[in-house]
Amino acid sequence: MRNAVVTGWGKCVPPGVLSNADLETITDTSDEWITTRTGIEERRISHVETSDMAAVAGLRALAAAGLEPGDLDMILVATCTPDRLVPSAASLVQHKMGAEGAAAMDLNAACSGFIFGLVTAQQMIAAGGFDRIAVIGAEKLHYFIDFTDRSTSVLFGDGAGAVIVEASEEDGGVRSFDLGTDGSAADILCVPASGTEGAPTTDRRTVIQMEGPEVFRRAVAAMGDASTRVVEAAGLGLDDVDLLIPHQANIRIIDATARRLRLDPAKVFVNIASYGNTSAATIPIAIAEAVEQGRITPGANIVLAAFGGGLTWAAALLRWGARVEPLGESDADLPESHATGLELMQPNVDLYGKGI
Ligand code: ACO
Repeated sequence: MRNAVVTGWGKCVPPGVLSNADLETITDTSDEWITTRTGIEERRISHVETSDMAAVAGLRALAAAGLEPGDLDMILVATCTPDRLVPSAASLVQHKMGAEGAAAMDLNAACSGFIFGLVTAQQMIAAGGFDRIAVIGAEKLHYFIDFTDRSTSVLFGDGAGAVIVEASEEDGGVRSFDLGTDGSAADILCVPASGTEGAPTTDRRTVIQMEGPEVFRRAVAAMGDASTRVVEAAGLGLDDVDLLIPHQANIRIIDATARRLRLDPAKVFVNIASYGNTSAATIPIAIAEAVEQGRITPGANIVLAAFGGGLTWAAALLRWGARVEPLGESDADLPESHATGLELMQPNVDLYGKGI
């Protein structure tokens, strides 16, 4: 079987910061509640579209892999917040990256989307049809949030991350995976009027609705179980895990998953304080930061684990390749913006604050 090794990584987080103190001015919450109950201190609010962040993250990952846009044969964008339903965000990203030779498609498994995408890329490469795939997770979640609703508004943020997966003889790549979905629980985390079911409207069915404690309970069980299974399926023991990169939805969910794997906290990557939950963008942003911070070493056994709307869950045992240094850097960037997170949120607050 051909290996599918991660050879490039990159992220793009928008500059607008929305702090817990900012949220105190919009809704009935407190910095103390948010930090102790979720671990989140601030999140980013995007001034551009999902595909803009995705393209910049993709170009940065390409540069780290020492590749040009023309080298890609597939772009997979994991997102539940595409710019438009048609065309896919991936089509826009392909054009913005200048990767005209690549086929491109979206994939939606909510917060589990990036791992679903990474496994899809690995399978496509292993089957022999593709050689170089960009897997990008990108979200502009703030569009689907009622910022006056404290049960959801404190949790989410915007951003993008990307990896390049290449066919290789080198040891590395996804060694095992566990993907799943429980469609019977789809309604506990959803945007009801976001598809063909609903007419265009500004009613509450157009924003994220969530039974938080029930999602929490299922997340802990699903992520913990899936993580344990992928370690076992890769023929490894828990001691062989070098790093856990979990979905960053709530620090208490992360801690519970780490406890199930009996992992030393030093082996758990956490950046929730800075970004909140960026859904499918979370894991590739975390991968990029983990490499930058020297937390990923050559040949490392990394457990990726996520859960999300669907309800979906996903885990994969990713063996890193030999290289942890980027081969190059991209000067791709977002258009400049000096707007604060709070300023970018104002239209949303004006809309929902009127009780629409
Ligand atoms: N600020 C202040 N108080 C709050 C807030 C807030 N932001 N939110 C809830 N509260 C209050 C509640 O009203 C409640 O008050 P009461 O006891 O007087 O009724 C109290 O805090 C406890 O509320 P719970 O909802 O039980 O709080 P919990 O500890 O479960 O935390 C949370 C809620 C953070 C949502 C948690 O359940 C969670 O993280 N769930 C998982 C959610 C998640 O990860 N979703 C993303 C999935 S990814 C995707 O696919 C998009």
